[in-house]
Order: sequence, then structure tokens, then C-alpha cells
Amino acid sequence: MFGLIDNDSYLTVSDGRLCIDGVDAVELARSHATPLFIYSEARIRRNIARLTDAGGRIPCPMKACYAAKAMSTLGILRAIRNAECDIEVNSGGELWKALRAGFSGDRIIFNGTSKEAWEIELAIQNDVYAIQADSVYELSLIEAAARSLGTNANVSLRLVPEIESGTHSGLRTALLTSKFGMMPDEAFAAIAQYADSDHLVIRGIHLHVGSQNPDPSVYAEALATLGRFALRLGRISSRPIEHINIGGGFPVDHIGGTRADINEDQAAILSAYFDPAGALESAWQRLAAADPAAAEAVSKLTLLIEPGRSIIGDAGICLTTVRNAKSRPNADMPGGVDQWLLTDAGFNILLSMETYKWYYHLISAQRAGVPHETRYKVAGPLCDGGDVYFDIEGKGRLPEYRMLPAGVEPGEVLALLNCGAYSLAQASQYNGRFLPAVVLIGIDGTPQLIRRRETLDDLIRADSLT
Ligand SMILES: Cc1ncc(COP(=O)(O)O)c(C=O)c1O
Repeated sequence: MFGLIDNDSYLTVSDGRLCIDGVDAVELARSHATPLFIYSEARIRRNIARLTDAGGRIPCPMKACYAAKAMSTLGILRAIRNAECDIEVNSGGELWKALRAGFSGDRIIFNGTSKEAWEIELAIQNDVYAIQADSVYELSLIEAAARSLGTNANVSLRLVPEIESGTHSGLRTALLTSKFGMMPDEAFAAIAQYADSDHLVIRGIHLHVGSQNPDPSVYAEALATLGRFALRLGRISSRPIEHINIGGGFPVDHIGGTRADINEDQAAILSAYFDPAGALESAWQRLAAADPAAAEAVSKLTLLIEPGRSIIGDAGICLTTVRNAKSRPNADMPGGVDQWLLTDAGFNILLSMETYKWYYHLISAQRAGVPHETRYKVAGPLCDGGDVYFDIEGKGRLPEYRMLPAGVEPGEVLALLNCGAYSLAQASQYNGRFLPAVVLIGIDGTPQLIRRRETLDDLIRADSLT
């Protein structure tokens, strides 16, 4: 029915209504109001297991660190922690949230390009597993902070090794034209410079190719880069590193069998699907065949991964209510009109739908069991012409029309699927809109409110003049 269901799906239809882990989505919409995000803890666990399965297929130990930027509501972070997954954070704020969710420092890695003094100090004081230094300059800041605290800091170096991914240009992060990391030669020079430092322990090297990488072969390229770096380093440095970090970027299939009517390039990115553990295993096998010495160097290290989307993306849905409807003349449509539906979920809570024209499949949660064969123009609630569910620029990156049951009217509850990542985490109160509530369906099938819906007071909570 949805085209996004696989064998171990957590989405089902019962009495014609969408259920998530057996819980009626429309009931939840009625009790908590919409828009409403609903997450499945069972699906989160299944996704983590799917990634860590690589541990048994490659010769080195593995550590998975959930990329908190994908979704960092405390209830989700706790679910991740309970699933024995570690965490990657991108700011002092996310670091603070991770600590608050119960992660100890040795389970945290700290990324980011523009770290402030207090953020570096918080990381050092909590003895995080690694502060991932973005530049040679930043290393000097970390060293100075550790010295003034009278201790040492664990760091790893973020490399920008010129690896190209077929994903969206804004999501490619390992190219010299991107804003991230340091060039491998800079990293070698920094390692030599700090070899005798009492305050910096360079524990690893890191790279992240990009998000929603459509082609698994980028992981072979990335592993080869890290392996060769580790090998060369082992030959010239007396202080060996302990880990390599291959980043995140494993894709989530947003299209499945839905036959979304979008252009080929966009479809290739958004329908990307491969087994992450298989991709890492094959990257390992390719390195072992091409460069046994580099593979040997890797086998003595711990391999870190930083998946965000592949843990949380298809573990969450967003319920939205149709609030308004209208028709507009269109001679090409049956009846000579376009039927428009205006929902309460806009790009303030699904920013990627605007920035990257990300496709989130839309169904009726209330009438999930009936054919979805009627075309609608769908838009969100914002006072912004770009707040639409189609590609306003006419480039075919989103379908012109969404397919829903006939006769959708205001009040009907719809569901956007696979939108658990980079949605609420990027949300804003633009247009004075409340940030939505979040419900987590626990492992035992019990729904729990893990974030309340905002109120009018929340709209002015940081204003000094009230
Ligand atoms: C450094 C770093 N690590 C991990 C991730 C997580 O990527 P994804 O959510 O695609 O797995 C990102 C996201 O872009 C990132 O920038």
C-alpha cells in the first residue's frame, strides 16, 4: 500500500487506519494535535543493529556513534543510548544534551567547524572520546584549552580528502571546495607538531563523505584513504593513532515502490538503498585486495561510524491535518480544476522539503486502506509561496501532484513517511508556529510523549521585552 513497507515494517494498516508499531496514528493525532512526530523505538533498534552488523564482518572492532544532529530530542537520545549506540555531537549544546541523556564522555565524539572556547572546555572537562578538530588552527585552540585546564584532550583530525559523492551538492562534505576539515598533508604536519605535546592526544582521523550517499563504493574509497593515511603515519610517527572514523551518510529509501513522479537525478538520490554493513565489508575486502599493508594497518584500529539518517530517518513519521481546501482552474485535469489541500505541516518543520526538495511520501492516515488515486496539489501553512509539496521552481524534483484517496476534506489526517531525520531537528517557529509534539512508541509498544507541543508562551520565551 505505501510502497515504503519492507518485511520488518513497523507501519501497518488496521481498520483502514495507519498504525505505527500497532498504535493507531489517528488516535495519537487526536490526543496530541498535529503536526505530530511519531517515532518507533523498535525501528531505531533494528536500524542500529543493521549498521553494527558490520562489526562481525570486518577484522577490527567497531563503534557506532549516532549523529545527534539528525534528531536530538532527549527521549530519542535516551533510546539511542539504551540501544548501546554511542553519539556524535556538533556543538556544545548537543554535547550538553548528550550528557543530559546519560552518555558518558567516553561514548561521545565532538564534531563541528566553529567551536567556541566554552564548548571545547566542556568537551575536555568531560573527557570525550575525541574532539574532532576541523583545522590546524582549531588544534591550537584545543591544546591551549587543555593546557589551561591542566589536563589533556583527546582529538582526532577531520580530513578533506577530495572524495566525491553523487548526493546533493549541499550534502557533499569531503571535497576541497567544501568548508570542512584539513588536507591530509596538513594533518601529517599537525601530528608531527604535537607529537610530544602533554596536552593533545591525537587518537584518530576522521572523514565524512556526505549524507544520503547513493553509491556504496564511496565507502571503499574512504576506507582506502583512511587506511593509507594510517599506514603512512605508522611508518613516520612514534605515537600511533587508535581509530579511524569513516563518518555517516548511509542512505534511507524515501521512495520505495511509490513511483513518485520526480526527475531521474533526484530519484537516484532519494531512492538510494544499500546494506551499510555490506558496504563496509566490501570496502574492507577491496582494501585488503588492493593494499594489504594498509588493510593490515586498519585491522589494528577501531573503526568508527557516525550514522544519523540511517538510524532515525525511517523510524519516524509526521502526522498533519488538512486545514483548508480550494480549487483552481486547470483544463488538463479531470473536472477542469486542480484540487488544493493546505496542511498544518510546512517547511518550518520539514526544511529539507524546501532546501533540497526532499520527497516525503504522503498518505492518508485515516483512510490508509483505500486506493490513493486522486491527484491533489498540496501545500503547507506558511505565508511563503515556496511552502508547497511540489517543486515551485518547476525542475521536477518533487511531484507536481500527491496521490491521495478521493474526497479528501479539511479535518482529514495525513501522514508523511520516513521523515524522522533532519526534520524537527531543523525546525523553527517561523510564522509564529508552535514546534510540534513528539511521541515515541517504546519497545513494549507503549506510546510516550517525549516532547510536548509548544504553546503561545514558548513563542516569546527568549524575548526580553514581554
Ligand atoms: C560529520 C558528519 N558526520 C555524520 C553525519 C551524519 O550523516 P547521515 O545522517 O547522513 O548519516 C553528518 C551529516 O551530514 C556529518 O556532517
